[in-house]
Amino acid sequence: MSEKRIIRIGLLGFGVVGQGVWKNIENNRQALEYRLGAQLRIDRIAVRDKTRFREVVVPEATYTEDPGSVVDDPSIDIVCELMGGTDKALELTRRALQMGKIVVTANKALICEHGEELFAIARRTGGHYFYEASVAGGIPIIKTIREALVANRFRLIFGILNGTSNYILTRMEREGLSFEETLGDARKLGYVEADESLDLDGIDAAHKTVILAYLAHGKWVRLEDIICEGIREITGEDIEIAGQLGYKIKLLGVIERDFESDQLCVRLHPALISEKEVIAGVDEVYNGVSVTGDVVGTTILIGRGAGQDATSSSVISDIADAVFTLQGAPEPVISEEDEAVYNKLADGLGIASKTALEGRYYLRLHVKDEKGVLASVSETLAKEQISFATVNQKENSDGTAILFLTTHETSEAAILRGLAGLTSTGLLGREPVMIRIFERS
Ligand SMILES: NC(=O)c1ccc[n+]([C@@H]2O[C@H](COP(=O)([O-])OP(=O)(O)OC[C@H]3O[C@@H](n4cnc5c(N)ncnc54)[C@H](OP(=O)(O)O)[C@@H]3O)[C@@H](O)[C@H]2O)c1
Repeated sequence: MSEKRIIRIGLLGFGVVGQGVWKNIENNRQALEYRLGAQLRIDRIAVRDKTRFREVVVPEATYTEDPGSVVDDPSIDIVCELMGGTDKALELTRRALQMGKIVVTANKALICEHGEELFAIARRTGGHYFYEASVAGGIPIIKTIREALVANRFRLIFGILNGTSNYILTRMEREGLSFEETLGDARKLGYVEADESLDLDGIDAAHKTVILAYLAHGKWVRLEDIICEGIREITGEDIEIAGQLGYKIKLLGVIERDFESDQLCVRLHPALISEKEVIAGVDEVYNGVSVTGDVVGTTILIGRGAGQDATSSSVISDIADAVFTLQGAPEPVISEEDEAVYNKLADGLGIASKTALEGRYYLRLHVKDEKGVLASVSETLAKEQISFATVNQKENSDGTAILFLTTHETSEAAILRGLAGLTSTGLLGREPVMIRIFERS
């Protein structure tokens, strides 16, 4: 019987995900090594503080506090960057790829901000950069788009890509809790990132949306060029009114391509979505992605979008691909001319401006509870050709009222002008709230 090749792995980071990778390789070692035809050894682990208590116990000698020494170690075949951040992680990933190494990562922020440079280094040096765990945790969305759906051009990809905000919205809906109350529970359960803005302002989900847009369309979109809004403004009343109208409110990443005008629209924001859509039924910490390809039609993937086991499942899947690569699995041969042709296809693709969006909108307006207010609101919005599809009103005990409106089809530019017009009339007691209504075109 021939001896299996030993594949040596170095982990940069041994926190939530790193420990999950070790634990789940150990738990499934026999089956995994049988499937891979290789032996897996995690030989080196870089951490900030070796003395820190960790649930998963590993031999003392495995640890180092010098992550560069793991990257530089010639015996290490696969470097897993599971430390997060965009400074040290960038330096180390660059270095590993420049050496032609295989890097596996879960770091969506790093790919979103520096993916263009890092993938270019990998192509130049023959290195590899695997990133399944960076989008939607345990859902194999990268492999699905890149491999299983390779025959397709993607008109629409949309979904829920941040479990924390989905958990908050789900509990607000089911239990009638406020955003603040639910956020408190999410914090206690450890669901919220240390930098809360990543979850609550939509930045984490926007990072993932940008990565999917690149994967599906070969175009890097800058975060500052797209609509990126989180869930802080959503109230229980919004969720209730949306429910009465047959919608749920979800934080959606949307990647829409118009092949006729060759425009790509990438955005991340809360949206009213018909409760008949499968994605509307994705609740709690789950993620869900709907992919519409011109050949396959619509495919929907739902699963755990974060957490130790789900995320390490994707990291181990990338380690498996890395092992196949190391064992000589054929890779597509991409010449410089091929690269130029592919880039040219993406070059022609325009990025839709933030105000180019067209659709229907939900508005929440806090007004004085006086006669004629609705008529004034209607008149102001009519100047921008905005008309109402539904109107709901709630009177407050303090002499104010809340108008909950949905509009007919209009444009984002008209809505922004209309809301500015309303603000300048002095009719509103506080900033108006606008939520887009997601509908398939
Ligand atoms: N947690 C999830 O559910 C999840 C899901 C998807 C993707 N991700 C991504 O996975 C990555 C890791 O996340 P995590 O939740 O596992 O983070 P974490 O629990 O904070 O762990 C980070 C690890 O990196 C080590 N580290 C950080 N800076 C270092 C440095 N300069 N030198 C050496 N070691 C360093 C830390 O060492 P010490 O332990 O000594 O502090 C720690 O072991 C991030 O990019 C994150 O966005 C996480």
